[in-house]
Order: sequence, then C-alpha cells, then structure tokens
Amino acid sequence: MLAAVPPPVTVRVPSKINLHLSVGDVRDDGYHELTTVFQALSLTDEVTALAGGDSGVEVSGEGARSVPKNEDNLAVRAVRALAEHVGRPERAERVRLVIRKGIPVAGGMAGGSADAAGALLACSILWGLDLHRDELAEVAATLGSDVPFALYGGTALGTGRGEQLVPVLSRHTFHWVLAFDQRGLSTPKVYGELDRLREAGDPPRVGAPEALLEALASGDPHRLAPLLGNDLQAAAISLRPGLRRTLRAGVTAGALAGVVSGSGPTCAFLCSDADSALKVAAELAGAGVCRTVRVAHGPVPGARVHEE
Ligand code: C5P
Repeated sequence: MLAAVPPPVTVRVPSKINLHLSVGDVRDDGYHELTTVFQALSLTDEVTALAGGDSGVEVSGEGARSVPKNEDNLAVRAVRALAEHVGRPERAERVRLVIRKGIPVAGGMAGGSADAAGALLACSILWGLDLHRDELAEVAATLGSDVPFALYGGTALGTGRGEQLVPVLSRHTFHWVLAFDQRGLSTPKVYGELDRLREAGDPPRVGAPEALLEALASGDPHRLAPLLGNDLQAAAISLRPGLRRTLRAGVTAGALAGVVSGSGPTCAFLCSDADSALKVAAELAGAGVCRTVRVAHGPVPGARVHEE
C-alpha cells in the first residue's frame, strides 16, 4: 500500500526591524559581535511546503524575480538542513516550496531569513516531526543570523551575531511606515562599509540599549522615537546617499523618527498611532523618495501555521 501524501502546510512569517543595532568588533569567524533589539512586524511572507511531487521552489510577490530559485535560496537550504538534522536527508528531495513574498528582497528586513524560518516550521509539520521551537532555532542559527528571530517573533534582545535571543517586555503595539528603496543592498557590503568608515575615522556609535528597553516597556512611542539607533545606518547611507533624503521626508511627513532597518535600504518610521501611520504613508508615497510604502505594526508573533 502507498503511504498517504500529507496535506500541504502553509506558514506565515513576520519581517523584522532593528530598533537598536550596536555593531561591535569583527570576530575570528568574520561576523561582527552585535547587541540588537529586534521587533517582528505585520509585513509577512507565506511559505507553503508540499510533499509527494518534484522538489523545487516557486516565488511570487514583492521582488520575486530577484529571489534565487536554486540551492542559493535560504528556504531551500533550510529544508535540506532540517532533513539532515533528523537523519533523513532524502526527504528534502520530495518537497516543493511555494513562497509568497510581502517582505522586500535584500531590504534589511530579514525576508530571506523569514522564508528559511517558514520552511523549517512548515517541513517539521509536513513530516510529522514533534520538534520544539528551540530545536528548530538551533537549525535556524546554522542558516543565518536572523533566522532564529523569525521563528520566535515578538520583541527580543539579540546578542552574538544576532542569533542568541532573550524576549523583551513589550505589550504595546507600535505603528510603523516602511519605505522600500528601488534596489536592495548586500548585507556583507554594508558591514564592510562600516569597517571601512571605522578605519577612516570613528563614526558615532549607538551605545547600550537600556533606555530603549525601558521606553519599549512604557509603550510610549514618543519616548521610544529618539532612542531608535543603528550603527549600520551610516554605512547604508554611505553606499546609498539618497536614504538621507528618505529619512528626512518621513519625519517631515509627520513620523516621530526614522531609522534604516538592519543593513538597509528599507527605512522604518515610527508613528504616534495607526491613523498617523496612514497619513505619513500617503504623504511619503507622494514625496518621490522611495519605490513603495507600507504600513505595519509590531510586535507580532513569529512563524505560525496559516489556516486558510
Ligand atoms: O548570518 P547572515 O548570513 O545573515 O549574514 C550575512 C553577512 O552579514 C555575513 O556574511 C557577514 O558578512 C555579515 N554579518 C556580520 N555580522 C553579523 C551578522 C552578519 O558581519 N553579526
């Protein structure tokens, strides 16, 4: 008798922004030591894993054309890594992934990491593995620095290369406007540019996140706004000088503050409430400083099964 093919599993995964990103020294393995505060946002990708057919990956939505459809795709690598982790490498050959993107590609919002986290959770369910999220996070950390956070979501303090996570108290919802740039930025290039800027001089550093963590707990966006900070922002602006204009335009439109998300080039603008975010988004969309504008809120949960 043939084994029944399990039904497809669809997982929804959040994007992230870094409310605080302090970049330390380069380690022996080439990564930089980080202290960062992640927040998961309602801008999401969806990953469906299907068994019983040919392997491969289909991608649609935001930036789909520039997503690799081969082994370079982090979600494809995630399927293989999970199959190997449970000692069944052949399982990866019979999984097809369908990815619907809402998160910009190479935008500094961990879109590729979200897809990898989605693939891990979807396959663990598809294969009937009863794995704890912490075990999935161990596999996730081997794939990329931001993949574990995409599994947990919420708001978290990240250390190491960003993969060591502690949840942060943040019961309140914050409202954001996101400005996508025309093209993405390569994360290694942005880190390299920061190293270059630091060799040439000593660009200001964001310092410790304590005050920001207190502001998060208070839930007051007016307190949080002046504390947003990202050491990679200067490097992203150095590579993409137009971002300075984008950041200014968001504040002129009524945002409380703007910050480059991760390695950029997406800019995230904190707004006082949902209505203000809609107004800022409309004005920013007309300012001609970015390709697309989205509103989002956070924190939201990490990767979770999406029932149709
Ligand atoms: O871990 P991930 O593959 O997302 O990292 C992409 C690149 O970003 C790394 O190859 C490295 O150049 C840079 N990076 C870093 N320090 C970190 C995280 C990323 O230098 N903590």
